[in-house]
Amino acid sequence: METKEKNLAKKDVIIACDFNCSEEMLAFLDLFQGEKPFVKIGMELFYAAGPQIVHAVKQRGHRIFLDLKLHDIPNTVKKAMAVLSRLEVDLCNLHAGGCIPMMEAALEGLTRPDGSRPLLIAVTQLTSTDEATMRRDLLIERPLEEVVLHYARNARAAGLDGVVCSPLEAASVHAACGSGFLTVTPGVRFADGEAGDQKRVTTPARAAELGSDFIVVGRPITQAADPVAAYRRTCAEFFGA
Ligand code: C5P
Repeated sequence: METKEKNLAKKDVIIACDFNCSEEMLAFLDLFQGEKPFVKIGMELFYAAGPQIVHAVKQRGHRIFLDLKLHDIPNTVKKAMAVLSRLEVDLCNLHAGGCIPMMEAALEGLTRPDGSRPLLIAVTQLTSTDEATMRRDLLIERPLEEVVLHYARNARAAGLDGVVCSPLEAASVHAACGSGFLTVTPGVRFADGEAGDQKRVTTPARAAELGSDFIVVGRPITQAADPVAAYRRTCAEFFGA
């Protein structure tokens, strides 16, 4: 079913707002006078500030990616997604490792009585998990890329809208799941910036070339001396201005 939320611009920059209280989050948003960036609220801020912060940010007119990465039995995830759907977020996510029945239940829970729903994407394998760790801790013997693509196909089969992945995986995910299947990609840095703890990074322009639909950029913007200028630079590089 076509949903309102599917009318979101297909390509955009999402700012990862990894703050630990509402005050910091709202002070950061106050810096933006002329534009309303798409923002990501993750576990840290949501657990610290609760659903009220989602309402407050929404009221200011921002689109929201609520990054809570649900992973539980299908019934629990379905009910939790119904609650998140009422928060009117634009995009939310879960772990593809919860398997197809969990992802299908999540979509059911997320769908409102009028048929609309936020977009739903899946985390495949966390980028903090490498092939050796996957083999050692999860007993998964297949190559990491094959596992990522298999989980992306599962997400597609369950009816989800896309995956969180590395920009380096965006082209293969699109080849496997279709160009309309969203790739939402963290791990983005300016060419002259610090990588920090991210291992495999690409620039906004390179992420666009590789086919990323949405880039998720945190510290290069939130920790910049001038966050608004850093946001504008990210957009200019990503959109090729
Ligand atoms: O500050 P930075 O640009 O590294 O922020 C990236 C954001 O994307 C963080 O909120 C991080 O939790 C999130 N993320 C990630 N890698 C994943 C999934 C989410 O970096 N595989």
